[in-house]
Amino acid sequence: TVHETAGGPGTIVVGSGIAGLLTALHAVERGCRVTLVTKDVLEHANTRFAQGGIAGVMFDDDRADDHVRDTLVAGAGLSDPAAVRVLVDEGPARIRELIALGVAFDRDDTGGFVKGLEAAHSYPRILHAGGDATGTAIEKALVARLRASDVAVIEHAFLVDLVVTDGRVSGVELIVGETDAEPGRREIITAAAVVLATGGAGELYAHSTNPEVATGDGIAAAIRAGAHVADLEFFQFHPTVLAVGDSFLVSEAVRGEGATLVDERGRRFAFDAHPDGELAPRDVVARAIARQMEAQQGRPVFLDATHIHSEDAAERAAFLARRFPTIDRAVRERGLDWAREPIPVTPAAHYLMGGVRTDLFGRTTLPGLYAVGEAARTGVHGANRLASNSLLEGAVFGARAGDVIATDAASGSWPAAPGRRPAPQSQSAIAQATGSPFVTAERQDRGVDAPAFSRAALQELLWDDAGLVRDDAGLGHAASVISTWRTQQRTPVTEHDFEDENLLLVAEHLVAAALARRESVGAHFRSDGTPAEAPAHLAEVRSANAASHS
Ligand code: SIN
Repeated sequence: TVHETAGGPGTIVVGSGIAGLLTALHAVERGCRVTLVTKDVLEHANTRFAQGGIAGVMFDDDRADDHVRDTLVAGAGLSDPAAVRVLVDEGPARIRELIALGVAFDRDDTGGFVKGLEAAHSYPRILHAGGDATGTAIEKALVARLRASDVAVIEHAFLVDLVVTDGRVSGVELIVGETDAEPGRREIITAAAVVLATGGAGELYAHSTNPEVATGDGIAAAIRAGAHVADLEFFQFHPTVLAVGDSFLVSEAVRGEGATLVDERGRRFAFDAHPDGELAPRDVVARAIARQMEAQQGRPVFLDATHIHSEDAAERAAFLARRFPTIDRAVRERGLDWAREPIPVTPAAHYLMGGVRTDLFGRTTLPGLYAVGEAARTGVHGANRLASNSLLEGAVFGARAGDVIATDAASGSWPAAPGRRPAPQSQSAIAQATGSPFVTAERQDRGVDAPAFSRAALQELLWDDAGLVRDDAGLGHAASVISTWRTQQRTPVTEHDFEDENLLLVAEHLVAAALARRESVGAHFRSDGTPAEAPAHLAEVRSANAASHS
């Protein structure tokens, strides 16, 4: 079925996290006809799992320049400074917009916002809601506003592909209404503009903080349609996920409140890796934990909150339950008492810094196609995202995209994304560009002993070979197995099949990008690589940071 709504093609937003919802709301307010499609129900986006909060310069004694510096330093010098400036400068207005939409960020007895601290921030600038339920509060408020708006909503609509006509994105192909019993129906909706707000791809890894919907659908569709992707080698691993039961995020804000990391003998080890200890950038802490776990034959390390807030364990328990109600529930459900005993934690895949390459308004390199939120690579995160900058990025760049869609459509032209180098699109191109021995045609032809494909096998492969620590041999192995699996793929029928296809395609590009980047930088850590030299501008940023905080 081909749908075209009365009045001609409008804007289609795919995805219902903070970025998609704000894009849709901004676009509809500026007179666009907007349809939002989402593969589950509106509320089932990764946004609702965000615990720590949203970063922004909201206090008089904080400074935008400091938030910019913290973001650039965490990004290991690979962030785009212009994008970071936009993020930080427009962040407070977006946070105030969320407040106006009904998000009740936590306040203290004086009515001021409670300040939260997370790793690599030089100031406690994180606002949170419901203690550790910030994402849920934001998702609820935005969904309520969307339902009351003129945005048309199609739930249970899976993005099969983008439709491209004469080099321009002209719509989406969907499966609508698939259930366990029913196959769903194929539909094409024509559109003047399509916005990918489809989130990340945590399902690539065996251990992840993401919900199962995070299968890289938008990024894969963009690759197939010929849009450029970038920075896929930068996948962030969150340091602390409960190591008992299903993976469950324990917010960095817990360390921000003073909890420490200890090995199985009770020794603090994070300072061995970085002078900021437990509050060092996330990639540094995650690797320090991985190293310690290796020294402990894979057994988890411990997050110790038994000394924070009060000497009195009952008071401490009450504080933890009040400040972190969601985590407290998860910890107690697993039979642990974190007011009195350290809890076992381990790193897990958390956030994809790379994605579909955009300019500062969410425009991709493919006319008619925008990308926002985790699906996008706006350039703000560089090689490693600063804590609580993800909700902020979704809000700032979602709103920006929503604001320009109407005028872009009226002008009919497509401003070229400035200064964008195409990302490598194939392994052979990368082999040619880098001389990497592991992606040569010869090696591909020989193939490897690939196990039968399953999603679990893919997740284990990436966890082992393209995880927290990588090397050429492991990445080459992963590339060969993925290549074998890609040649064995059958025509997808169900949404699950399409998701597998998307995961494999994103995995192929992630591994190729990781092979091509031979140095260690940020979240891309190669045990056989040399540390990247920090760009000159980062050295300046670091010394300015040291001066402003000494
Ligand atoms: C957390 O609460 O630790 C996660 C926050 C983030 O990913 O920025």
